[in-house]
Amino acid sequence: MQHLISKAHESFIKFIYASVMVEDNRARRILEDIARFEYRHMVWLMTDARREGHSFNMDFDEREIKKLEVNTEGELLSVLIEDLENNIKTYSDEKETPTIARLINDDKHFLYLVRGLELDDREITAFNQSRELPGVELKDDAKAALVFFLMEETFKEYELITIYSYLKVHSDKVVASCAFTDLAYDSIYHLKRFAELASKMGVLTMPKPIPHDKYQNIGVVEFLKENIEEEMDAEKQCLILAEKIGNEELSDFLLFISRQEVYHGELLQRALDAVKGE
Ligand SMILES: [Fe+2]
Ligand SMILES: [Fe+2]
Repeated sequence: MQHLISKAHESFIKFIYASVMVEDNRARRILEDIARFEYRHMVWLMTDARREGHSFNMDFDEREIKKLEVNTEGELLSVLIEDLENNIKTYSDEKETPTIARLINDDKHFLYLVRGLELDDREITAFNQSRELPGVELKDDAKAALVFFLMEETFKEYELITIYSYLKVHSDKVVASCAFTDLAYDSIYHLKRFAELASKMGVLTMPKPIPHDKYQNIGVVEFLKENIEEEMDAEKQCLILAEKIGNEELSDFLLFISRQEVYHGELLQRALDAVKGE
């Protein structure tokens, strides 16, 4: 089970990052759709594993993710095609279950879609360290603050997706499980928006596997209390940057994110109440 979960996990990361690395809007949308399904595949595999009594972790092979660091969109496309082909091969070697059948069905269609994308030698600029946001004038200190924020926050959002997904699958309280689902989906959205900006500025960085002690055998009540604090801190970071950035569009975006962070605190509080009420 573990290798299947890791595979779907790697696909999720590859597709969500690839979706912010390509220029063409249609390609971005298709890659993002696929990323969302690869995320669901991972969660379904985790759910099956738990139901069957297997323990698992949220590790992934960093070498797989490193494959995204290519020079052209054409090369990126080859990486994604190879990824889906590998998934289909791996799943086909497994005993067929409803989940495995669904995953094979999905990935075959996604492979068809990805093969149909016309991406060529356009250079990938996501890693070129330009630190410029095309079409936006920013003062040096605002730019430095934005770059720092994006690098920190993409990493944090990825970490939260990992933790919330793991907790969701291991939670038997419906209210808590729903809250974790919502939090994971919001974090996927935040990750995408932050990674989009990071990619435009040439400072996109790949995620790292999260240490097991961040999500395994943790006291859920303690974790929830700490994370309510963290969400409040995220709100504050967004507000500080919104104030500093000196650009209306970016400032509006940061205020929007900061208000979502406030709601994350509320969702965690509901989960906390549900868990405490056991
Ligand atoms: Fe967030
Ligand atoms: Fe949050």
